[in-house]
Amino acid sequence: MHPLEQLRDEALLEIEAASDEKSLEAVRVKYLGKSGSISEWGERMKTLGKDERPVVGKSLNQARIAVNAALDQRAEEVRAEKESDALASIDISLPGTPHEIGSLHPLHQMHERGIQIFTRMGFALAEGPDIEAEWYCFDALNTPPDHPARNEQDTFYLPDGRLLRTHTSTVQIRAMESAPPPIRVIASGAAYRRDELDATHSPQFHQIEGLYVDENVSVADLKGELEFFMRELFGAETDVEFRPHFFPFTEPSLEVYVRSKALKGGEQWIEVAGCGMVHPAVFEAVGYDAEKYTGFAWGIGIERVAILRYQVEDIRLFYENDLRFLEQFPY
Ligand code: DAH
Repeated sequence: MHPLEQLRDEALLEIEAASDEKSLEAVRVKYLGKSGSISEWGERMKTLGKDERPVVGKSLNQARIAVNAALDQRAEEVRAEKESDALASIDISLPGTPHEIGSLHPLHQMHERGIQIFTRMGFALAEGPDIEAEWYCFDALNTPPDHPARNEQDTFYLPDGRLLRTHTSTVQIRAMESAPPPIRVIASGAAYRRDELDATHSPQFHQIEGLYVDENVSVADLKGELEFFMRELFGAETDVEFRPHFFPFTEPSLEVYVRSKALKGGEQWIEVAGCGMVHPAVFEAVGYDAEKYTGFAWGIGIERVAILRYQVEDIRLFYENDLRFLEQFPY
């Protein structure tokens, strides 16, 4: 047997016996490292005669290939053994570590549900900023400068004259300024008023606004769509009533009351939204033809409907982020 073949066999035996990466590396260095005993034959070749050289060269090559392959294979085995040892030390019969699964805030759930129903009814989602110019909050909505809502006592003004929107009706104006009729949009978000925080008021609250403008839109459309929405939200048994009211930006203006045995308060009527037929002055402010188009709009109080739907006694519970409260609304 040629000494190279002997070296090769020795190496293969040592590789077989190696039990970890470190000893494998030692074997590699011993035989195939720069001055490894197989590698040395590369140098030695130069001293050989012409006839011998190709024969030895071939053996050298074969030895290298065989040893390298064995090293790779054994390395893979060692890795797999290590892995299964690690797995063996895990007791799969032990109970796992439970992860707390969060859920959406109840107000967020109402917001999502509202959007879901209205988008199914063909409304697109519109947006506007919480910090607004007076134009969007009041002037364009036919609300004169001496209207009480514009009072410093009622509204948060910024030093530059802008304000925190007092309702989401601002988005109606933004939507109409950006596109001609027909328009069919909803907007959901925060509104702000200078109210003391108590069981039924919060200086920041939320609304779902809606607007539909086209030719021949009537109060019947308004009633039909809002009734449908309320029954989707509160259940088919819900009674819906519209009572006359006043808003500067609608004529006629109405308030929406709901009543259902399934809801808090039982047979009591509860006001959940304001609505009406868009006032011609609002159309004029955005450049819509008030002779040609009519439309309706509404604003629903998200806290109001959440209080009803979830039977919550105090609006402040929504803002305190007490897990004992929030955990009651899995989603
Ligand atoms: N913006 C009114 C409020 O905050 C609610 C409202 C009433 C919105 C009538 C409307 C509407 O779009 O047409 O009390």
